[in-house]
Amino acid sequence: MSDKLFDTKAPTTTSSGAPAVSDRNSLTIGADGPIVLHDVHFLEQMAHFNREKVIERQPHAKGSGAFGVFETTADVSKYTKAALFQPGVKTEMLARFSTVAGEHGSPDTWRDVRGFSLKFYTTEGNYDLVGNNTPVFFVRDPMKFPHFIRSQKRLPDSGLRDNHMQWDFWTSNPESAHQVTYLMGPRGLPRTWREMNGYGSHTYMWVNAQGERFWVKYHFHSKQGVAYFSNAEAANMAGADADFHRRDLFESIQQGACPSWEMSVQIMPYADAAKYRFNPFDLTKTWSHKDYPLIKVGTMTLNRNPENFFAQIEQAAFSPGNTVPGIGLSPDKMLLGRAFAYNDAQRNRIGTNFHQLPVNQPKVPVNTYMIDGPMNYHHTGAAPVYVPNSGGRPWSDETGKIDNGWEADGDMVRSAYTLHAEDDDFGQPGTLVRHVFSDADRDALVETVSGSLLAGVREPVLSRAFEYWKNIDPTVGQRIQDKVTQAAKAKK
Ligand code: HEM
Repeated sequence: MSDKLFDTKAPTTTSSGAPAVSDRNSLTIGADGPIVLHDVHFLEQMAHFNREKVIERQPHAKGSGAFGVFETTADVSKYTKAALFQPGVKTEMLARFSTVAGEHGSPDTWRDVRGFSLKFYTTEGNYDLVGNNTPVFFVRDPMKFPHFIRSQKRLPDSGLRDNHMQWDFWTSNPESAHQVTYLMGPRGLPRTWREMNGYGSHTYMWVNAQGERFWVKYHFHSKQGVAYFSNAEAANMAGADADFHRRDLFESIQQGACPSWEMSVQIMPYADAAKYRFNPFDLTKTWSHKDYPLIKVGTMTLNRNPENFFAQIEQAAFSPGNTVPGIGLSPDKMLLGRAFAYNDAQRNRIGTNFHQLPVNQPKVPVNTYMIDGPMNYHHTGAAPVYVPNSGGRPWSDETGKIDNGWEADGDMVRSAYTLHAEDDDFGQPGTLVRHVFSDADRDALVETVSGSLLAGVREPVLSRAFEYWKNIDPTVGQRIQDKVTQAAKAKK
């Protein structure tokens, strides 16, 4: 597939196709004289140049990606009727990896969560799975998301990043403990994008051909294995090559070393959700693999670099709201908030008709009544522009219960989720620290957290941070407190 519109071997032209007079010399009165106002070709160059960036993504601004293929190798048709997940089906796709807080041009190897965005160009329309390299998230109500992102970005006066602000937010929102533990552990510094795992993170719904519903969580395990940087290695690399992850992916694919990931799912029968020991829609929790083991689905391979970074990566638009038949959302409030946020961000960032750009266009015919607007490219000719119409243009008219929905009832309230038997903020991060991390990981965790707290975190946030870590794990929390207190004393 090539998105190229220009014949770049032909003589250059103006944007209206007339021969370009000169791409090197502006029109002047005499060799040393002033430039004339009617040098339209020169003025057009200047004016276009002033407009050739789009707004960067609010979070996840720094990233890159590649095209590839997803092949369903197993038979999961008893869980979903989605065409892309039927045995043997191969689907063209795009992946974009990113950091969350850094702006365009920020170092790839700063400690952060990594975005793991996937767009599948399926025979039933585009399916986007917009996840991270961690299975959980910092907050569980979308109302908190803008505040969370602002706290990770920059101070209003100096424009500097600020650890005090980050820890103030995290320790004031204890549901962040699980994700912060992942972030401060090895996953906060993946060595390359090729060597990190990815997760859908939220719980989604799968629906089979018989209309049976299941809850599903996605896992992508790197076939390259997983590898991490130490703090020192990452800091050195941030200085030596700020684009290290972008370069690594591009060059690996260029050299034919195409990275791949195995996709598995955890499947929860629909009725289990009400009684599972953790709220299965709480994005700060994982499901135990003992309760819901991994089921293999297929393999994703990235095998084609973008031909043009701006057209195909910068203008790529992913949205968790882009689902296809056989796949639905869930009562996860974060997911429901995200279902609106992305397309709206893209209308602002790229333009009203962003979905008409080749990288975002589905491979199936589109017939929508959303017409016109800036840069409208595909149009509906003289066909009726309203429904119902007598002009023979179809419209859809499903009514009644939807197949990927769920029951909801009750008063309208502003409230936290109802707690399930084992729901709390610190249990799962404690298990991660004690049973998943190695001794070396725990030592590195104490180093990383104390280093971060020593870099500008003040009272009362500092004491709250000690409590936060003692709630996660008393020993690790005490070690962090001792290290920070001793280092602070030594400084005096
Ligand atoms: C209510 C919560 C959230 C809101 C409102 C939100 C909003 C946004 C917005 C506006 C963008 C920029 C989109 C663009 O300009 O194209 C974005 C990017 C992104 N978000 Fe979120 N986000 C939320 C939570 C999450 C969560 C929970 C995850 C992962 C599990 C996530 C993963 C990503 C990724 C990977 C990108 C980059 C997409 C790309 O590669 O283009 N976000 N988010």
